[in-house]
Parts: sequence; structure tokens; C-alpha cells
Amino acid sequence: MGKDVVILAIESSCDETSASLVRNGREVLSNIISSQISVHKKFGGVVPEVASRKHIENISQVIDLALGEAGLRFDDIGGIAVTHGPGLVGALLIGLTTAKALAYARKLPLIGVNHIEGHIYANFIQHKELEPPFVCLVASGGHSHIVNVRSYGSYEIMGMTRDDAAGEAFDKIARALGLGYPGGPLVDKIAREGNPHAIDFPRAYLEEGSYDFSFSGLKSAVLNFLNSLSMKGSSPNIPDVAASFQQAVVDVLSDKLIAAAEEKKSPYAVLAGGVAANSKLREELSNKGLEKGIKVLYPDPILCTDNAAMIGSAGYYKLMRGEISEMNLNAVPNLTL
Ligand code: KG4
Ligand code: ZN
Repeated sequence: MGKDVVILAIESSCDETSASLVRNGREVLSNIISSQISVHKKFGGVVPEVASRKHIENISQVIDLALGEAGLRFDDIGGIAVTHGPGLVGALLIGLTTAKALAYARKLPLIGVNHIEGHIYANFIQHKELEPPFVCLVASGGHSHIVNVRSYGSYEIMGMTRDDAAGEAFDKIARALGLGYPGGPLVDKIAREGNPHAIDFPRAYLEEGSYDFSFSGLKSAVLNFLNSLSMKGSSPNIPDVAASFQQAVVDVLSDKLIAAAEEKKSPYAVLAGGVAANSKLREELSNKGLEKGIKVLYPDPILCTDNAAMIGSAGYYKLMRGEISEMNLNAVPNLTL
């Protein structure tokens, strides 16, 4: 066994300021997440300028806490991994400049990590036995991708959303139902009291064999349903609408992921990203996986939503491949996998 390598990872792409220490890519020594949800809640969504300001206020303390909880000092660290995209440019820049300053001052390698790639790696932390190749659905507030993870660092995008991301659809419908922000967990919760078959909302499977998604038609159907009720002076059964909407999303996501895993003969169907925390998606996918003999894996909810540990895992494997970033690494808001 070689020497242990500990990565200090920083994530600030949206509304969580997070720092983590990860050993050998799989073992989380600390994972501090300072969420700004309470700040953005009153605006009904993330306000980019406010997010940047909060990241500046919190980042040093979050890093200190991560080091403290792991009981480590900078001398114990082998590299600094940081999310450099995709995300909000102002928010990304706070993590990135902090990471560069620390890497320069401590003479440590800087490792820029793609946020979407990071989400996938949450599964390497959770499932110690998991190795590529496998097929993974990354569904979050900004992205919905089906990725064939061929090996560490080699990804084939099999499909992606053509309009809204799955999490974005959850957030928009939650707002229309007056549930608040962020919408996903609130829809998930209230849907448990509703009938998922109460309203037959559309499922967009697109062309035969396509692994792309489209959620805008479903979103319009739910909004039209709510509007027509309100024009008649009636009010909706909110748990039934939430449950029926969620069922429509879950049906499409789980069918396409299982089909993609079958096509690639992947023994695993893996979930990642904030939407992977959805209880109905986990349940439905596990049932479908069981039928097809495909093992369904997902991380704990805390590793599904934004966190730096997943960035530390991806950063470790990049460092092992010698993929070190230059000091002129920039924030790329629309970085692709
Ligand atoms: O990965 P993430 O924390 O941030 C992005 O990279 O976008 O994902 C956040 C998204 C939000 O849209 C949120 O509503 C959704 O994930 N989400 C959920 C659940 N928990 C979070 N969606 C459905 N069900 C959930 N339980
Ligand atoms: Zn994310």
C-alpha cells in the first residue's frame, strides 16, 4: 500500500459553502456544509449576488472547521480540489480564488473538478465496492444527464435534458403549489399523503431509444391544470397534484436509467445529484432494478445534494492520473462533462 493521500476539497457552485477532507478518494474525514437556504428562501430561489456574498463570509470558517473536525493541518494535505464549474460564476469564483490562494501559499497541487463529475463520485464514497464501468443518472437543480461511466475520468453522455432539469421542475411546481423553496424535498414529503394516480400528467419519453429528457411539457400541464381549477373557483388537492407530478418524473427517470443500464450491460444503475434524494425515485428504481437483475445504488441524502466530499473524491482520482490544474484555472459557468 502506498502513502495515504488526503485532499482538501472546496465547493461553492451554488448555495452551499462546503469544505471536506477526503482520504484516498473514498474515506470522508470531515464534510462541513454551510447551507444558505434560509437566506434565499424569502426570495423563492437562489439570488446569485447574495450567494457570492455569503460564500465570502463563510468560506474561511468552513475550511477551518473541516480541518478541525478531521484533526489535520495543511502539512497533512496532498492537494486542493475545487469545483470550477458548472454553476453561478460569482459563487464559483469565491471557492476557486480561495483554493488557488491556499494551493499557492502551501505549494500544493490545485485540482479543478467538474461539479457534475463530483456528484457521480458521491457514490464511490458511499459504496466502497463500486468500480466503473456503470451507468449513472445525475439529476440536480441544474442538470439531468444519463452518463456511462466507462472508467475514472472517462464519461459518455448517453442523454440529457432538452429543457428544464429534473430538480428545476420540482422547484417550479413546488412554487406553483405554494410549498416554498427548495421544492424537491417539500414535494417529496407532501406527495406521501397524495394519490400518484389521481391526475394523468404527460410523460415525455421522446424518440424511441432516446435517453434525453424533457420536463417543460409536464410543467405546463401541471400549471394548466392548476389554472383551469382556479378559473372554476376550485382549489387543488395539493398532495394529489404533488404525488401525480412526482410519479410522472420518476416514471421517466427510472425507465430511462434502467434501459440505459440494460443497453450497456451495466450491473449497476446508479443515482446522483439532489434529485437522487427523492424517496419515490429510490423506491421505484429499486423495484425496477430487482425485476431486471440490475443493482440500484445511491448515496445518503447528504451526499446527494451539494457537498465538498464528492469533489474531494473526484479530485483524488484526478490527482492520481496526474491531472493538475494551472494557476490560471477559470470558473466556467456552463462547463460540460
Ligand atoms: O445537487 P443539488 O444540491 O444542486 C445542484 O447541483 O443543482 O440539487 C438541488 C436540487 C434542487 O432542485 C432540489 O429541489 C432537488 O435537488 N432535490 C430534490 C430532493 N432533494 C433535493 N428533488 C426531489 N426530491 C428530493 N427529495
Ligand atoms: Zn449539485
